[in-house]
Amino acid sequence: MAILDADKVSMKFGGLVALDKVSFQVEPGEILGIIGPNGAGKSTLYNVLSGVYRPTSGQIHFQGENITGMKPHKIASKGLVRTYQASDKLFMSLSVSENVQIGCHIPSKTRILGDVFRISSVRRNEHEVRQRADGIVKMAGLTELASELARNLSHGYQRALGVAIGIATGPKILCLDEPLTGMNAEERRHMLGLVKNVRKSGITVLLVEHDMGAVMSICDRIVVINFGRKIAEGNPDQVRNNKDVIEAYLGKG
Ligand SMILES: Nc1ncnc2c1ncn2[C@@H]1O[C@H](COP(=O)(O)OP(=O)(O)OP(=O)(O)O)[C@@H](O)[C@H]1O
Ligand SMILES: [Mg+2]
Repeated sequence: MAILDADKVSMKFGGLVALDKVSFQVEPGEILGIIGPNGAGKSTLYNVLSGVYRPTSGQIHFQGENITGMKPHKIASKGLVRTYQASDKLFMSLSVSENVQIGCHIPSKTRILGDVFRISSVRRNEHEVRQRADGIVKMAGLTELASELARNLSHGYQRALGVAIGIATGPKILCLDEPLTGMNAEERRHMLGLVKNVRKSGITVLLVEHDMGAVMSICDRIVVINFGRKIAEGNPDQVRNNKDVIEAYLGKG
């Protein structure tokens, strides 16, 4: 069964149709790329999937449950998590490790009760959180920077930390919004390694990204959107050679 199922999802802003009956499914464990020219509707699609906007029509099912119109925090707590630009979600004056530990606390509702009733179990929990955070820091390739303050990281590593925090919240699907923007070659390589590790850990990945080389190299399948409509879907080779896709990117000769 698909982990995520978007069925004829439309989003209108006044007279503008930003998404027009977009349907696609995400299989568990895959890296699914979502591409399209500027203004195609990719960010709008993320906003609709994550509950920032309620779609004008259509339905979204996550793990078999209808999540259409649910609030963002509710959807996130079910395991559909999106990452944002690094700078607005990081605690700049805390270390890499502390940032990830905070991410680890976001889903653990039991901890609040633990704080009140069982101090010893809280301590044990704290130890577990630190261990889990260490594992995620390692997976993000940031072990050597674990005690560095977030503000001292380069742009690329700040974005990697943003992804690490996303992982810490325990997602089933992680939706990455242009994770490679503004990166140098080394940071880009690092981020691509991280995305592969995310998938290896069993988390399904949605990837909106303009860097075609990266998308083609890392995605199992790709959905192409143009003017709010899905115009193609398939593996990288199928998409690369699709006439409508070539036209959308290069214009009609
Ligand atoms: N809140 C909004 N109100 C009105 N129009 C919007 C809103 N959000 C997006 N749009 C419009 O919807 C269309 C799709 O925009 P969207 O940001 O989803 O594109 P995108 O594919 O993410 O583009 P880019 O690659 O440039 O990030 C655009 O025409 C945009 O102007
Ligand atoms: Mg966008």
